Amino acid sequence: MKHTIIAPSILAADFANLQRDIEMVNNSEADWFHLDVMDGVFVPNISFGMPVIKSIAAHAKKPLDVHLMIIDPDRYIKTFADLGANTLTVHYEACTHLHRSLQAIKSEGMQAGVAINPHTNVSFLEDTIKDIDLVCMMSVNPGFGGQSFIENTYKKIKQLRKIIDANDASTKIEIDGGVTNKNAKQLVDEGADVLVAGSYVFGASNPSQTISELKDLLK
Ligand code: DX5
Ligand code: ZN
Repeated sequence: MKHTIIAPSILAADFANLQRDIEMVNNSEADWFHLDVMDGVFVPNISFGMPVIKSIAAHAKKPLDVHLMIIDPDRYIKTFADLGANTLTVHYEACTHLHRSLQAIKSEGMQAGVAINPHTNVSFLEDTIKDIDLVCMMSVNPGFGGQSFIENTYKKIKQLRKIIDANDASTKIEIDGGVTNKNAKQLVDEGADVLVAGSYVFGASNPSQTISELKDLLK
């Protein structure tokens, strides 16, 4: 049976009760913490940075999946490794030398992720797929939580799955944006391995139960 990884996005947590929300994820059936870092340049929003991630890392008992929505991410690869990131994801659109960035992430002992915007064709990843541990496929335009899922994503998952299989790669496909109980099953059926969920989880009256329900749906 396929195991789908669920990664709650801390962007949707209550920052005034961050420890409570981290403990909720620790004690839930979730697998990873998804941490969105935004610089106000690559995306039109600013989220949180190093001091907040340091505090999260001190309490988190599950892997940290850090999604950098920043320009020129190479500047901070070592910093995020030191902070305890397990997976570090850079945007395809923000990397002039993607292959070099991926090698730098791996040389710091992290899993290397590449995120692609909704308009970016998956074929651009063909030549680096063997070097990519995780493709974070954006199913909304990056920058904000709580947006509606873009339906074209299903087609892109299928296309990417073909590229991964044709290259005998072990790259995981992560879907980020607008994930709910309405689309989760189809996303996994098309080939997704990791589902990020922000507002769907933290906006629920019982977030932990919502994570369990999502898991049950995918069993
Ligand atoms: C968007 C972020 C997402 C976001 C997902 O730029 O990359 O991780 O937090 O939030 P929801 O699940 O609310 O769309
Ligand atoms: Zn994200």
